[in-house]
Amino acid sequence: MSESAGYHRVTIAETGESFQCSDTESALSALARSGKRGIPVGCRGGGCGVCKVAILSGDFRKRAMSRSHITEEDEARHHVLACCIYPQSDIQVHVIGKLQKAIHR
Ligand code: FES
Repeated sequence: MSESAGYHRVTIAETGESFQCSDTESALSALARSGKRGIPVGCRGGGCGVCKVAILSGDFRKRAMSRSHITEEDEARHHVLACCIYPQSDIQVHVIGKLQKAIHR
């Protein structure tokens, strides 16, 4: 595996839109950078829970997520906080929770 920073695509399953994301950047930053209005960027630190997504495919690194937002069950279903995951390959996400409104407008 290469040590250099790679770029991957984060694709939103619902809309087919995809955004470039480096493997040192969180998936939420990539979505926010897309300029999509209303992306609810909250704390960016795993504390507020607004950025919940389900990962449908792809590899990612994750940092610790609060159990008050992501339960063990969520994690088993690959429900994560977009601000806490760093894509390591192209990934496909399904937006859930508060993000949904922003994506579907
Ligand atoms: S932005 Fe607050 S948990 Fe992701």
